Amino acid sequence: MFSALRKYLLIPRLIRLSSGAPKDPLTAWDRYWGDVRSTGAAGDVLWDSGSDHELNGYLPKVTQLDPNLPVVDVGCGNGSFTRLLARHFPLAVGLDYSANAVDRARQESTDITTASFAVCDMTAPEAAATVAAALAEAGWTGDANVFIRGVLHVLDSDGRAALAANLLPVVGARGGVFLAETNFPGTPVDYVSHLGATRKSIPGPLEWAIRGLPMPGRFGAKQRAKAFPTADWNLVEEGSASIETRPLSNPSAPDVIPGYFALLRARQR
Ligand SMILES: C[S@@+](CC[C@H](N)C(=O)[O-])C[C@H]1O[C@@H](n2cnc3c(N)ncnc32)[C@H](O)[C@@H]1O
Repeated sequence: MFSALRKYLLIPRLIRLSSGAPKDPLTAWDRYWGDVRSTGAAGDVLWDSGSDHELNGYLPKVTQLDPNLPVVDVGCGNGSFTRLLARHFPLAVGLDYSANAVDRARQESTDITTASFAVCDMTAPEAAATVAAALAEAGWTGDANVFIRGVLHVLDSDGRAALAANLLPVVGARGGVFLAETNFPGTPVDYVSHLGATRKSIPGPLEWAIRGLPMPGRFGAKQRAKAFPTADWNLVEEGSASIETRPLSNPSAPDVIPGYFALLRARQR
């Protein structure tokens, strides 16, 4: 009994660590990306495993999207998934509202000619026009596929709805959306304990995220139904997913967060 409750002794440390995080999410994300020193399996970024293993697990779903269309990686961060997606689509465009993330993604992608990056707040009213401009800059006009990983769970309910609505003109009749999000079923204390935090120590990449970023929520079927209403979207498939982190507990294997995936298409009127 006591050992099950011991994790709650973490609460004062979590409050202390997170109290310095900027309250404005864009400021927090941009500062976070500006401070990152390295990425991948030994890097600073909690959700960057440095491996294609997670994406390979999604391929049976992702390849149901039209392979002749480009893919837009919404909230691309340092572009790990954009680069992997560029292997499966003729063009991959990574978009993030943090200019520091986009700078980092560009630096890490100089050897990939079919990946490009642009700054875009995907919840903003002008987002669809910004996406169209980024695609046009890369030589494409028309419908595109959308990939989202680990972004909706960091937005509030209004942000999720705005982002989803902005995707309707992006996908049009031919494109589709694949999303994969963390859907951890416990409290923030359960979440950080799951990733190895104890009262005595917290894995470095997790501590970085706690210090600098807003506390994430969860995104599962319930949240998807609200953000992607059936009046606008057809749900093709949904299910559970495993979101892989940078190795934390074992240096040679990623840790895994329970997640959710969905494949959607815009309803045609
Ligand atoms: C947890 S990271 C995931 C990064 C990347 N998708 C991956 O899986 O490696 C969330 C990313 O979403 C970006 N983001 C958050 N809100 C956004 C918004 N409104 N528009 C665009 N990007 C956003 C953040 O800057 C951050 O890079």
